[in-house]
Amino acid sequence: MAMLKIPGYENQRPGEVPLSAVRDLLGDCRRCPLCETRTNIVFGDGDAYARVVIVGEAPGKNEDLSGVPFVGAAGKKLDALLEIAGLRRDEVYICNVLKCRPPSNRDPRPEEIAECSPFLREQIRSVWPDVIVCLGNFATRFILRTEQGITSLRGRFYETGHFHVLPVFHPAAAIYDRTKQASLEADFALLGQWLAEHPAAPAPAAGGVPVGEE
Ligand code: URA
Repeated sequence: MAMLKIPGYENQRPGEVPLSAVRDLLGDCRRCPLCETRTNIVFGDGDAYARVVIVGEAPGKNEDLSGVPFVGAAGKKLDALLEIAGLRRDEVYICNVLKCRPPSNRDPRPEEIAECSPFLREQIRSVWPDVIVCLGNFATRFILRTEQGITSLRGRFYETGHFHVLPVFHPAAAIYDRTKQASLEADFALLGQWLAEHPAAPAPAAGGVPVGEE
């Protein structure tokens, strides 16, 4: 995958490039034909320092109109699932593999993913979370670099370098399928359990000197 150079932040370590710099580089993106049909670019939403990044597929109609990810029916489901994990929406960072809506919500195309995903990579590098939750096949394929389907992958954590990755069904798939709903609820309960068992490292004391070592 093409690596992006963020102007002014070329030699920064993970977590040191602000999301605003990634957004600035995306600009009024015309890198693929989805720019012709979109209303708004849907960059991402939530806590820029979150421990959990949620990656969806692509904006739908409501997201395209508002510029905010997961505000439609799937978004309501996502909010309820986050609650099971003990999280509020503003405590996580939510983004998508594609930043523009594919017409009629068709599947993302490989060439669209190739153009857009370097920005997702930089968003994740910027937030530098502990956990990435992949909603559905497209997010899972990109993050875990696998062709394996979500049905066989979901239900457990995977480790890739720094990240703990939890693939789950896409919440939209559960709107009409109660069995997927039960799996999603179990997987978000697992997320809550993981977070409880792995508390965030305490922030360094002012001046970077750990308390007790002055
Ligand atoms: N589905 C997605 O994958 N992303 C959104 O932002 C909304 C619906």
